[in-house]
Amino acid sequence: MSQQFDVVVIGGGPGGYVAAIRAAQLGFSTACVDAFKNPEGKPSLGGTCLNVGCIPSKALLQSSENFHAVQHDFAKHGISVENAKIDVAAMLKRKEDIITKNAGGIAFLFKKNKVANVHGLASLKGREGEKWVIEVSDNGAVVDTLEATHVIIATGSSPRQLPGLPVDNVTVLDNAGALALTEVPKRLGVIGAGVIGLEMGSVWKRLGAEVTILEAMPTFLAAADQQIAKEAFKTLTRDTGLDIQLGVKIGAIENKGASVSVAYELNGEAKTVEFDKLIVSIGRVPNTAGLNGEAVGLQMDERGFVVVDEHCHTNLPNMWAIGDVVRGPMLAHKASEEGVAVAERIAGQKPHVDFGVIPWVIYTSPEIAWVGKTEEQLKAEGVEYKKGTSGFAANGRALGLGQAQGTVKILACAKTDRILGLHMIGPMVSELVTEGVVSMEFKAASEDLARIVHAHPSLAEVIHEAALAADKRALHG
Ligand code: FAD
Ligand code: NAI
Repeated sequence: MSQQFDVVVIGGGPGGYVAAIRAAQLGFSTACVDAFKNPEGKPSLGGTCLNVGCIPSKALLQSSENFHAVQHDFAKHGISVENAKIDVAAMLKRKEDIITKNAGGIAFLFKKNKVANVHGLASLKGREGEKWVIEVSDNGAVVDTLEATHVIIATGSSPRQLPGLPVDNVTVLDNAGALALTEVPKRLGVIGAGVIGLEMGSVWKRLGAEVTILEAMPTFLAAADQQIAKEAFKTLTRDTGLDIQLGVKIGAIENKGASVSVAYELNGEAKTVEFDKLIVSIGRVPNTAGLNGEAVGLQMDERGFVVVDEHCHTNLPNMWAIGDVVRGPMLAHKASEEGVAVAERIAGQKPHVDFGVIPWVIYTSPEIAWVGKTEEQLKAEGVEYKKGTSGFAANGRALGLGQAQGTVKILACAKTDRILGLHMIGPMVSELVTEGVVSMEFKAASEDLARIVHAHPSLAEVIHEAALAADKRALHG
């Protein structure tokens, strides 16, 4: 006899687990099926984000920043530390402990909200009257059958691989391997100067690796505002010491076990370099393998994304899809917001996720963050805008932190002054970007930010100053 539910969520990442909790809060009997197993073979909720993505990468970024600070910044504070060493095993254990704690936290939240926590790979079997039938298997054997009125697909994404170069996570690494290196490689190669390449490259560079990043596009961080991207390129190459090569055409790659050789072409010149480890971070592909979507008529596009409307509804009755497996940015907070919105829509509410105000953060040092339109987008769309910029160089809080570099740029409509974008590079801009998100959600004008009291000394004063600059009345500029 199958277990009956109002809602079955497939996938326990930030899209799926949040959708399941919200559905249960709204009174639906809910199950969440997740297939992820940790390296010990145990179920671990939280999906890519918690197990091999957002959270472990931020843990290692912090460890490596601390190591870098001990070596390069502490002396300026009058603190001397000799022979600082990195214990990679201890660093990895700290990262694993954070994952275990948070995965246990999700299991606890499931219990608290009475979400049935089902481990295994979910496969869509078809309809039985008004219900969807879902079969769950583990290690190849069927372990459960569930029936649900509504299904929410939240199966996430996997790393895209280079054709003919299988990831072994020994020499050729994807995100999981890049987060689990047991020693610092001497020569680390990275293919793709996107978010993962820059974050993981920064981690291992700060721990002592020579890092070369090979990027196909001639433009650095093409999705970011180019003023900020140019500043980022300068500081990441000059200060962090990343060797970033743009406009590269990758040729033959040979995994020799103990090393890997990469042939590429740059400005018409053929080169070959040898690395001890190679991270491939060239984007991600949606996860639909094992879901059996084709058999039940689930519409997918040519790249494998589940096709949904603006409310995350698929082409099938009462079947929804959210997060990395559908269109839009591959970000944890976007997945979670879609999860909440779908659960509320099933409950008859009218939620809305505004794709125009989803923040982006790249956790390099300095951090890069933005929300809204870039100058390039506004120009392309023919929107008349004004801008204000201000820097962290003279900001008292940033100076005290020893991180007085970076820029904030605010873009506002030339006619109405409504804020259209906020772009930043600097200390803790991952936190500061929320001021832009809140302002834009409340349809604020740049003058509103200029007239709001900002604590002194604080990093947020740079946003205040940028807003004043947009009205040509910067006080410290
Ligand atoms: P996922 O988190 O991928 O979860 C999907 C889950 O579904 C997985 O557990 C999977 O095993 C399971 N599953 C798949 N198929 C089935 C099936 N048939 N049956 C049962 N279970 C199934 N985003 C940010 O916003 N901030 C960051 O700082 C950030 N850092 C990142 C760093 C790295 C290294 C990586 C790789 C990604 C990062 N991301 C970050 C992106 C973020 O991880 C994803 O956008 C997010 O995890 C997507 O959530 P999701 O719920 O859609 O899918
Ligand atoms: P990405 O899309 O950010 O970057 C991939 C890069 O690889 C691009 O610059 C692309 O031009 C380049 N590329 C593609 N094919 C190539 C080739 N053959 N040779 C050389 N370069 C090539 O993808 P990435 O870094 O893999 O990350 C995947 C996604 O995960 C991100 O887009 C983001 O959505 C998410 N993520 C978010 C983070 C955050 O929010 N801080 C951190 C890490 C990942």
